[in-house]
Amino acid sequence: MDLVTGSILCVPPLSPLLRDEVGRRYDVLDLPVPDRDAFLAENVEALSEVVGIVCTNAGPVDAALVAALPRLGVIANHGVGYDNIDLDACRERGVVVSNTPDVLDAAVAETALGLLLATRRRLVEADRFVRAGRWADGEFPLTPQLSGSRVGILGLGRIGRTIADLLAAMGCVVSYHSRHEVPGTPYAYARSATELAAGVDNLVVVVPGGPATEALVDRPVLDALGPGGVLVNVARGSVVDQTALVEALEQGRLGAAGLDVLADEPHVPASLRELEQVVLLPHVGSATEETRAAMRRLTLDNLASWLDSGRLLTPVPE
Ligand code: DGY
Repeated sequence: MDLVTGSILCVPPLSPLLRDEVGRRYDVLDLPVPDRDAFLAENVEALSEVVGIVCTNAGPVDAALVAALPRLGVIANHGVGYDNIDLDACRERGVVVSNTPDVLDAAVAETALGLLLATRRRLVEADRFVRAGRWADGEFPLTPQLSGSRVGILGLGRIGRTIADLLAAMGCVVSYHSRHEVPGTPYAYARSATELAAGVDNLVVVVPGGPATEALVDRPVLDALGPGGVLVNVARGSVVDQTALVEALEQGRLGAAGLDVLADEPHVPASLRELEQVVLLPHVGSATEETRAAMRRLTLDNLASWLDSGRLLTPVPE
């Protein structure tokens, strides 16, 4: 028997698998996207029964939504990043928040590696070259190799460490910058993002999103990476100054970029789409069948654990 009873608010977008499973277990309300504020104003009674929220990084949970749910106690976020949630508003109300760490490290690391290979070895351009029937006209240009190159990891958390270890196994020379030096790693520490970028051929962005990292990768960082440099972002679009990135690529001050995340998803500026040396993915860092199943399980387990015992399995760090 649940310690806490009430309904669960599903904040879109949720995968049908997750939404269906929440619906099988609990009374559910679905937040409509376009008419959210009208819905909040018109459904005060139903909203007063909501004790939990299930959401993903693409579904904002802001102060107005928290305020509209007087019995809200828990937010189970399906994702490791939680910059979609107003944590200050939650803290003020004593609402606890969980995320899904660890289970997606391998999938996101694979995505980073894929983007590094795609950009360094120009694999997507090479595919377009073949499809355009240009192979018979001559060889595709030679590219630099990823193995043996220098890679900087911006953010040596769990995912960053997984990427670093994979790259080291490929013979890359790995260094990193994090807010603090991480004890016991075999990788060289750089004291700033700019210092890191200046010493590498490829920079992989894996820091959490949110105000603390907003535009951390700015023009000086991109210029430090330089014309031969590759930027890969599997973190959040907000971490990279997108205008500065487009300018650097257009002006040849940066070599290439592989982006799983953008500033205003799913909006993709035409300037980025037109650049040959950019590989774009629709935020699929964790989107493998195995990982998404594990993320669903952990999201639902967190919710059930809080309802049963008032405890979360994986609360977000304080
Ligand atoms: C996360 O979990 O934060 C990822 O961005 C989802 O792919």
